[in-house]
Amino acid sequence: MNIILLGPPGAGKGTQSQRLVERHGLKQLSTGDMLRAAVKAGTPVGLKAKAVMDAGELVSDEIVSALIGDELDVMGPGQGAIFDGYPRTAAQAESLDGILASRGRKLDHVIELDVDEDALVERITGRYTCATCGKGYHDTFEKPAVEGTCDKCGGHEFKRRPDDNEETVRTRMAEYRAKTAPILPIYEARGIVAHVDGMAQMDDVTAAIEAVIA
Ligand code: AP5
Repeated sequence: MNIILLGPPGAGKGTQSQRLVERHGLKQLSTGDMLRAAVKAGTPVGLKAKAVMDAGELVSDEIVSALIGDELDVMGPGQGAIFDGYPRTAAQAESLDGILASRGRKLDHVIELDVDEDALVERITGRYTCATCGKGYHDTFEKPAVEGTCDKCGGHEFKRRPDDNEETVRTRMAEYRAKTAPILPIYEARGIVAHVDGMAQMDDVTAAIEAVIA
């Protein structure tokens, strides 16, 4: 099964991807995570991407499509993928068609998380992750059971993203409206789009996604 999770910054793509990984053994392919890893490692891709990401703008289509192709190449043919944050432009959507076809894969579902953008600013500015295992938390909505200790790995260090400030978030949302939302009709024409209320409780969002992919 190959799924695209679409939605503006903070819609819950990463949160729901992690749950799909745990429940279905799918692999999460997050171009944002791949780019952040490249920035951290100081690779040529990371050096190009850093300033663009810090400004909340989009990294080039060629770079992100190459990252996706490379990741699919190291996956087993039977393992499904969740595309989290990719594609984000019409050019990326076209590239993805070619990338999947050349690897004998097809898209099963495109799930758009419908959200209220103003509420997303609070979601994004309050989120943080475990520095060891990457599990996501939120100051208000998802705290660890024991304060300061990761529920998943027991780690004690947490981090926040440099682009999770209000000004950059507003730019990221504008990029979504201008460049990403317009790709939805491509998939609607194929009859594979489902809309899920991303403002519902996290477990209810998960249940709605499960109903789509069942
Ligand atoms: P990326 O990392 O993809 O960021 P994004 O799309 O802006 O999305 P986020 O990760 O911010 O949000 P999310 O939807 O995953 O929400 P989350 O689950 O964390 O991209 C970053 C940058 O990289 C881009 O700006 C761009 O520069 C570059 N880039 C990446 N991909 C690219 C591409 N394809 N092309 C070009 N450039 C690219 O949830 C947010 C918070 O809300 C969490 O704290 C969570 O706990 C909480 N939450 C989640 N769901 C709920 C709920 N139902 N109720 C209450 N709280 C909730």
